[in-house]
Amino acid sequence: MKALVLSGGAGTRLRPFSHSTPKQLIPVANRPVLEHVLDNIRALGIEDIGIVVGDRADVIADAIGDGARFNARITYLRQDRPLGLAHCVRIARGFLGDDDFVMYLGDNLLPDGVVDIADAFRASRPAAHVVVHKVPDPRAFGVAELDAHGRILQLVEKPQEPRSDLALIGVYFFTRAVHEAVAAIAPSARGELEITDAIQWLLANGRAVTASEYDGYWRDTGRIEDVLACNAHLLGGLRSHVAGEVDAASRVGAGVVIGSGARVVRSRIEGPAIIGPDTLVEDSHVGPNTAVGRGCVLRASRIADSIVLDGAAIDAVPGLSHSLIGKSATVTARSARPEPDTGLRLVLGDHSSVEIAA
Ligand code: G1P
Repeated sequence: MKALVLSGGAGTRLRPFSHSTPKQLIPVANRPVLEHVLDNIRALGIEDIGIVVGDRADVIADAIGDGARFNARITYLRQDRPLGLAHCVRIARGFLGDDDFVMYLGDNLLPDGVVDIADAFRASRPAAHVVVHKVPDPRAFGVAELDAHGRILQLVEKPQEPRSDLALIGVYFFTRAVHEAVAAIAPSARGELEITDAIQWLLANGRAVTASEYDGYWRDTGRIEDVLACNAHLLGGLRSHVAGEVDAASRVGAGVVIGSGARVVRSRIEGPAIIGPDTLVEDSHVGPNTAVGRGCVLRASRIADSIVLDGAAIDAVPGLSHSLIGKSATVTARSARPEPDTGLRLVLGDHSSVEIAA
């Protein structure tokens, strides 16, 4: 069995981060989302992994490499324009050959794993086996309607009036039967070849399509709120480990990881939290639910429920929370200047967003 990971999307809802870092490389618990996805795929025993990439191909290939780190072989497949999930299957035809495969959206996290679901697929090899999950508002998803025996009656992409609360959550298992389906469908109203339509085509043509309900933790990391929630969830699973230095005047709670070369001075680290390698934390209180990247400097600050990317500096900021601070960004407090002073000075990149206490 092979895997096809889709990492072509533009990530507009994660601007400004996605200008420099493709959304699949945004770190959650200090590891890119895509690495969590690859771990999950390796847990299924799959070694042959194709990753569909768009115009950020180079950045993704540089970060992830040829797969050796994951004991896998990774093949990058170029999609020139984001023409839909079923289009990705079309362009991956040569890589996939006639093999069964799992298709996995590169920005969806299912940390509880899909091993049992893969086993269910392997046991009966239906044309398609989809993973569904109950969501409060299914209108933003592909939605599956099942009968009383759990058989799929119908799949609809982003229905205005959903017939169930079971959303397709970005993991699909297929046999080669899907290639006929992706060749047969036409673009949807949004101009994309929808995988939901391809699976519905299989159903309508009498092929076996089954579903498993995933009841673990799931997030599509498409929005900042989701990235932060996912970060908190994954940090909660960390085991304490201190590789760097913590001075006698600091307190480090349970569920804290401190990377090598990091220094914690006169500070409190409240778990769950992770402090990346070569980062300095001084006179600060960090955590809970906070991941600080590599080579950051945090001084005289208080930060919780946040992600700080590599090389950022935070100085004398007393209350940061639910924040995502970009690579090498700086956040500092300063005393009032003599000239007319509005109290804030901002140097913000395109599509940045700032919330200031009212
Ligand atoms: C895609 C699929 C949709 C699925 C969702 C899961 O939507 O088209 O069926 O429910 O991923 O995240 P998109 O993110 O392209 O809007």
